[in-house]
Amino acid sequence: MTDLKQPVVLTGDRTTGPLHLGHYVGSLRARVQLQYEAKQFLLLADTQALTDNMGSPHRISRNVLEVALDYLAVGIDPTRSTIFIQSQVPELAELSQYLLNLVTLARLERNPTIKEEIRLRGFERDIPAGFLTYPVSQAADITAFKATLVPVGDDQLPMIEQTNELVRRFNNSVERAVLVECEAVLARVPRLPGIDGKAKMSKSLGNAIQLAASPDEIVKAVNDMYTDPNHLRVSDPGRVEGNVVFAFLDAFEPDIELVTELKAQYRRGGLGDSVVKRELNERLQALLAPIRERRLELARDPAGVLAILSRGTVLARETAGATLCDVKAALGLSYF
Ligand code: TRP
Repeated sequence: MTDLKQPVVLTGDRTTGPLHLGHYVGSLRARVQLQYEAKQFLLLADTQALTDNMGSPHRISRNVLEVALDYLAVGIDPTRSTIFIQSQVPELAELSQYLLNLVTLARLERNPTIKEEIRLRGFERDIPAGFLTYPVSQAADITAFKATLVPVGDDQLPMIEQTNELVRRFNNSVERAVLVECEAVLARVPRLPGIDGKAKMSKSLGNAIQLAASPDEIVKAVNDMYTDPNHLRVSDPGRVEGNVVFAFLDAFEPDIELVTELKAQYRRGGLGDSVVKRELNERLQALLAPIRERRLELARDPAGVLAILSRGTVLARETAGATLCDVKAALGLSYF
């Protein structure tokens, strides 16, 4: 099972809350596929989630189980993928400590994803230092496993770029290829808009559909979806660009010909929003029903899920520990 030629995948999600369809499209779907082709480590990023949640730490630890349930419910197989908890792998914090010396404050402040997050959170200059530096901790997550593939949404591309800079700097300074560069694996549809038409689906923006959404919640979300505000009568021609229902059909309807036909009809006029929404609702109900069922089933046995995470964490520590040995030896930090 541990084929040495298999690529190594490291990826994960902050445990700020249960996952939604944006996560599914951006990376979860790819991860379910990758576990058959690669050695995959899935990280429950509680430490990273704490970088801007120290006011409510228990919310973060409580959500570890929720995200783990989401992973298992979408089809992550714990015999193929190693699911582990970031805070329980101290080697990651230790590796971050060394990498932090290879990045400047100015570089950290230039990371576009961090910049946007600082703006959204209204930090201005009062940025928690752990928050500003989390891309370095993320680089430690990836490099501790010598991962070469990182399936993520497109907002994470700046993190991959920064990781590879750190890898090059580290290897340069120890004059040895200890750490390994990685590449992002982007999905066919790398980003799902929110149901309100905003560019990104996000729980905090209140425009998300949870993976655990009930049938009624799905109906309501689809009904609330932003379409073309000028498409007033069924006979009017409508706009497909910026229309959330069509963005979702692109992401979820496997019958591409059907989507092409619906788009053409909508543009010409004569296709009502309610018809397209009915089609999308059926797709989403069919996708989410088995996920919801599996999730409910797994949630009845939290101890069983924790046992999976505990086993995964032991494995993860072994791998990260081996890298850390190499790192410390390369730095000359092996005294005894
Ligand atoms: N930054 C990711 C998020 O916002 C979580 C994460 C932490 C991650 N470490 C990672 C993703 C390493 C990919 C690789 O959810």
